[in-house]
Amino acid sequence: RTNVTVLGIETSCDDTGAAIVDNNGHVRGEALFSQTSTHNLTGGIVPNVAKELHYKNVEKVVQEALDAAQMRLQDVDSIAVTVKPGLIMSLRVGLRHAQKLVQSSGLPLIPIHHMEAHALTARMMQKIDFPFLVLLASGGHCLLAVAKDIDDFELLGSSLDTAPGEAYDKTARELNLFQQPEFSGLSGGVVVEQLARAGNPLAFPRVNVMTTVANCNFSFTGLKISAKRQILAEYERQGLSTDMLLPQAADICAWFQYNLLYHIARRLQRAFIYTEMHGLCGENKTLVLSGGVASNLYIRTKLSELCSTYGYKLICPPQKLCTDNGIMIAWNGMEKLLSGRNFFQNPDSVDVQAR
Ligand code: KG4
Ligand code: ZN
Repeated sequence: RTNVTVLGIETSCDDTGAAIVDNNGHVRGEALFSQTSTHNLTGGIVPNVAKELHYKNVEKVVQEALDAAQMRLQDVDSIAVTVKPGLIMSLRVGLRHAQKLVQSSGLPLIPIHHMEAHALTARMMQKIDFPFLVLLASGGHCLLAVAKDIDDFELLGSSLDTAPGEAYDKTARELNLFQQPEFSGLSGGVVVEQLARAGNPLAFPRVNVMTTVANCNFSFTGLKISAKRQILAEYERQGLSTDMLLPQAADICAWFQYNLLYHIARRLQRAFIYTEMHGLCGENKTLVLSGGVASNLYIRTKLSELCSTYGYKLICPPQKLCTDNGIMIAWNGMEKLLSGRNFFQNPDSVDVQAR
């Protein structure tokens, strides 16, 4: 059939997303409700609050996506929903709603792995042959893997502690950036990226991370703590109270971002060498970069330079598809549907998983 459609539902973290995607990778309709402005007020995501907001919005968001597509639920061929990894209570709201829709429509249910969906989003826009290298950097994860098939990933390395997006968010908070009304609904990453443009990346001493560790793992806790220390030191030096805005905020942001990029770039370099040495990607020198942090243009530009040095082609989904959304879930469901293999699961036996 030429007109297959999948409804995707995403509630794993702090975005309630839904979308209908067809087999040609066209988005028929989409809707997204971001909880960021609420969580910025409380200094981070409170799981209970996230759950409540998903609960309040999921039905509306799904209906909005259907309306935008001018479709009824019965018109779609399958329902895909994120079941892992993520916040248990948030995941459960999405799954429960999907189960309810399955019950009323009789449609099949496809459970989705959130990180796999991030990794394969780029294939919605262009043909990318397996195997390829993928770097996922988000608010909950940082991982390097070889994507071998739609459900087969070989992990090369991952963050041993903090995720990069979390370090961005924390740094923005330490700098009181969310107190500024124009930043209230934005994520820490977006705000830090914006300020960093006017700052000096070399304003403070370099933070060395895992420089003697010969693998592809990541660590962002050291950088997060260094940023906090640097911020406090600047407050003290200026004699400012720590709830004010720091005149050096732009320098701190530029320096933080540069050091974060540097660490990611070094790890990626290792991954290129390792992948080649073990022939993991054959002749296919393609790196897919995705996840919330991949929407950062500074990081994209710098990693694209690194990629060309190593003869790699860098592919990033459009910025708004790097952060969480329903489209990537619908597309992942579509890929599973089109594979001809059976990825359906009995809706009553599906459960969510945090990790
Ligand atoms: O993938 P995502 O939407 O949700 C998770 O699955 O975690 O990623 C959200 C994370 C947040 O920590 C946010 O600060 C970060 O991605 N992020 C960015 C940018 N936009 C979002 N980090 C750096 N630069 C950005 N432009
Ligand atoms: Zn994500």
